[in-house]
Amino acid sequence: MSDSISVGVITVSDRAAAGEYEDHGGPALCKACDEYGWKVEAEAVIPDDLKKIQTTIRAFSAQGCGLVLTTGGTGVDIRDVTPEAIRGIMRVEIPGFGESIRIQSLGITPNAILSRSLAAIVDRSLVIALPGKPTGAVECLGFVKGAIPHSVKLALGVPTSC
Ligand code: MTE
Repeated sequence: MSDSISVGVITVSDRAAAGEYEDHGGPALCKACDEYGWKVEAEAVIPDDLKKIQTTIRAFSAQGCGLVLTTGGTGVDIRDVTPEAIRGIMRVEIPGFGESIRIQSLGITPNAILSRSLAAIVDRSLVIALPGKPTGAVECLGFVKGAIPHSVKLALGVPTSC
């Protein structure tokens, strides 16, 4: 099923949304998804606004994205609210994703401890919140990609063997 995953990619960044700098995180994740054989069906660049993050995730889920990736807003800046936005609408969190991302990322940079990356089921989607740095977002996605096809099936309610 990995080649049939529909993905929504959301860049969460005040400055990118305001056009103050070019979004590199979204395109980097789209390229990685393409390499994995997944189909990016929706993209958005939005500010660090809790309601906007929630409505965008739900809109992408409603349009059939079994996987929604966010990049940015996972840190501890005063404007970083991506985890809070997801927790406000999720049915259930899947802690192993965040644990795995942080453990593996700490082998690359001690600053990985600052990321509150997480994954959750929201409506009929697996949502994964990745850090904002483009290389970091792609490497974190790579750390957990093996668990994604099965998790997306569960989010979509597709019968599975486990
Ligand atoms: N994880 C990986 N794998 N690679 C990175 O470069 N950057 C860290 C961390 N996690 C990073 C990473 C840094 S510097 C920060 S501040 C936090 O992610 C939060 O980033 P965000 O607020 O842009 O989401």
